[in-house]
Amino acid sequence: MPRKTSEFDRIISQDEQSADSWQLSLRPRKLSEYIGQDRAKKNLSVYVKAALNRNEALDHVLLYGSPGLGKTTLAGIIANELGVNFRQTSGPAIERQGDLASLLTNLQPRDVLFIDEIHRLPRVVEEILYSAMEDFALDIIIGKGPAARSLRLDIAPFTLIGATTRAGLIAPPLRDRFGVIEHLDFYDTNSLVEIVTRAAGVLSIEIDSDGAREIAKRSRGTPRIANRLLKRVRDFAQIEENQNLITREIADRALTYLEIDEVGLDRTDRNMLQTMLEKFSGRPVGLETIAAAISESTETVEDVYEPFLIQLGFLMRTPRGRVVTEAGRNHIEGNR
Ligand code: ADE
Repeated sequence: MPRKTSEFDRIISQDEQSADSWQLSLRPRKLSEYIGQDRAKKNLSVYVKAALNRNEALDHVLLYGSPGLGKTTLAGIIANELGVNFRQTSGPAIERQGDLASLLTNLQPRDVLFIDEIHRLPRVVEEILYSAMEDFALDIIIGKGPAARSLRLDIAPFTLIGATTRAGLIAPPLRDRFGVIEHLDFYDTNSLVEIVTRAAGVLSIEIDSDGAREIAKRSRGTPRIANRLLKRVRDFAQIEENQNLITREIADRALTYLEIDEVGLDRTDRNMLQTMLEKFSGRPVGLETIAAAISESTETVEDVYEPFLIQLGFLMRTPRGRVVTEAGRNHIEGNR
């Protein structure tokens, strides 16, 4: 389901926005340039080297994790390290079997096909993907009714890299066909400091280490958000402060003005916690009820708001519903 406009408009939205295209220029191209995600990076580097040594296509890879953590970047790096073409599409963009067939039949041996939001592939398309992944063959039905015939087309051995926000969204038969499954975690502050400092160089804005740390701390563990906040803080520094240097004070002032608090929550996150505490008196609340209370879709609440609030220890999922923790309550009460 498309995200609502309100989510898209949030400055801390994890969605990719057209204004983010500058990030392409600073996307790392090699594993050695990619900051953070050490476990996934280490594993993938072993698998890539092994596939290269054997002259084989890399096994299919499933990457899952919150939006903005670098799944597309990592997929592009894998293709680059393998020295093959990188073809990119997304689940909702492949509407018919023929769309996927034409993508697959145009692949060169060992190419990488990246499917973002793979959990949103239509079921009929997903079904022909099974034999493509397993046997590098496409079983296509031509015609309808009694005249229908099945045609088997061979395709080049390739690597499918699928990306999704939660592994559980994928049907088990598809999930089982991925030889490698890696989870991307939220980034720690030190990694985000490095990412912000690197991006500042690309944007030609000076930033001191405390300034970078302030932005990093308030970026919800997400590079895409860190880079976006950096751009907004740069605007403040240049226009309001008349200087080309971001310090901690300037970053703090700009982010406070943008209503992003010291742990990275914005008004909508705080509204969600506050609603749960006040309207529902801190009792367990169902996902649908939370979504309705803050006028968001259940998907957005589950994929965007909750993972970070859970990571902060502000929210818990229990069998009876979601509950704000003691730490969550203290944070809201302290910020009132
Ligand atoms: N820019 C965005 N994400 C990055 C990452 N993980 N490493 C380096 N630069 C990045």
